[in-house]
Amino acid sequence: MSEVVVTRTIPEAAVAVLREVAEVRVCDQDRPLTPDELHAAVRGADGVVAMLHDRIDAELVDAAGENLKVVANVAVGYDNVDVPAVTGRGVAVTNTPGVLTDATADLAFGLLLSVTRRLGEGERLLRSRTPWNFHLGFMLGTGLQGKTLGVVGLGDIGQAVARRARAFGMHIAYTGRRRAAQEIEAELDARYLSHDELLRTADVLSLHCPLTDDTRHLIDDAALAAMKPTAILVNTSRGPVVDEKALARALAEGQIAGAALDVFEQEPQVEPGLLELDNVAIAPHLGSATTETRTAMAELAARNVAAVLAGQPPLTPVTA
Ligand code: GLV
Ligand code: GLV
Repeated sequence: MSEVVVTRTIPEAAVAVLREVAEVRVCDQDRPLTPDELHAAVRGADGVVAMLHDRIDAELVDAAGENLKVVANVAVGYDNVDVPAVTGRGVAVTNTPGVLTDATADLAFGLLLSVTRRLGEGERLLRSRTPWNFHLGFMLGTGLQGKTLGVVGLGDIGQAVARRARAFGMHIAYTGRRRAAQEIEAELDARYLSHDELLRTADVLSLHCPLTDDTRHLIDDAALAAMKPTAILVNTSRGPVVDEKALARALAEGQIAGAALDVFEQEPQVEPGLLELDNVAIAPHLGSATTETRTAMAELAARNVAAVLAGQPPLTPVTA
């Protein structure tokens, strides 16, 4: 029988899918495996279900050995996978598109509201038992209505965030490697701008691009300097898309007005400067963290593994 290694605990429903086709070994430690532990764990496996913190590369394929046929990443992002190296050795790579779109867009919008309406700051005030009273100038935030959302990468998640923004009365502008389909632009009344134009135009800049060599530190000193002093940066994509030190400096100096961050450059570390600032809403990488979504992600990964082990094409392959 085939053997599948799961690098971290996943929902039981997904383990059940795997058990129908393979012997399943779930690594149930309460932290990411170190690279050495990971390489030892996958030895002899036909399939691996991996997490976004696992480095999947040529060394991992070599460590697994010649049985390995598929690595299913339980995430839509796959910057942790050296796709050419792995697929070049005849091993399929899959991700989990689609099933986490709404959860991630909800979280992006929740964090955005948290920073514009100062929800974290207000909660910290109450929990510190500081006296307060209602008055017209108390803890004023800013509204979103009539403002422009700038979306970097109008893929599934970018579109889902834009739909929410439209319901809040915002205008949509976007940039990306390609223009979106005409019907998407029409539905969202979305304007396509160059990266530089988008930086200058956006009241809220929300990042929905993958992490690649091209997008690493896309938001750096120069980009932050080009943004409006009233602008809010939202990052629910991958931490390294933003130069976190540059962001902390820009926020401390009032170069931009605020940030809403679900992801960090050196996860699980957070740039200490950011933790000092009240104009930052932060969450510990919770974009897809609902019970429904995490179950759907793990099941999709498991079905990808089952398909490949049955000699069928993967459902949601990633190609180099
Ligand atoms: C989560 O960050 C994902 O890429 O699915
Ligand atoms: C860029 O990230 C795009 O979606 O075109």
